[in-house]
This record gives sequence, C-alpha cells and structure tokens, in this order.
Amino acid sequence: TYVVTDNCIRCKYTDCVEVCPVDCFYEGENMLVIHPDECIDCGVCEPECPADAIKPDTESGLDKWLSLNAEYAVKWPNLTMKKDELPEAKEHDGEPGKLEKYFS
Ligand code: SF4
Ligand code: F3S
Repeated sequence: TYVVTDNCIRCKYTDCVEVCPVDCFYEGENMLVIHPDECIDCGVCEPECPADAIKPDTESGLDKWLSLNAEYAVKWPNLTMKKDELPEAKEHDGEPGKLEKYFS
C-alpha cells in the first residue's frame, strides 16, 4: 500500500484524490489518509502530490504512518474530488514535525 505522511498536514493539496482509480483517500481536518486495504498499489498518486507526502510502505521508517493511515481511514469520510488546498499550504510545505504540532 501507499501511505500519506507528514508533509500533507496543513497543506492538503488533494491532487492525489483525482487520480486514484479506487477512490481510497479519506479526509481529516488537516490531512488525508489512504485506506491500506483498498489501495491497489498502482502508484499513480505518488508523483501527483505537490508536497511529496505520499510514499510506498516498502520505504523504511513508515510504520507509524501506516498505522495512522489505517486508523483514520475508517473514521474519516471518503474524498474523491479535488478541492482547494488549505490556506497557508505554501507556508507549511516542508515544515518539519507537523504531526506533533498540528495533527488533529
Ligand atoms: Fe490510490 Fe493507487 Fe495511490 Fe493506492 S497507489 S492510493 S490505489 S492512486
Ligand atoms: Fe496531501 Fe499531497 Fe494529497 S498534500 S492531500 S497527499 S496531494
């Protein structure tokens, strides 16, 4: 599966949802997550994210993100259409430690 990671938080550009063939993105206030059981590993969303926040879970160190994606994919609503990014997305793009600072 692919997972959404830290840099989505406070950016939420949503370009990813437009290309997903199985519509497996779910939306929280600050970020999106991917449902790991629905993702078919096609990889098309990865290059679409302007914040470079989507990674294959085969990359090392992503266990925490895989758990977070799995946990919230069943709590948050599905998002299938692109919407405006969050205000100040540019300012927050690339900021370190967003999970600790802003996740809700
Ligand atoms: Fe959707 Fe493919 Fe991205 Fe998985 S890898 S979330 S199926 S676009
Ligand atoms: Fe987030 Fe990137 Fe999608 S910022 S909403 S993972 S396009």
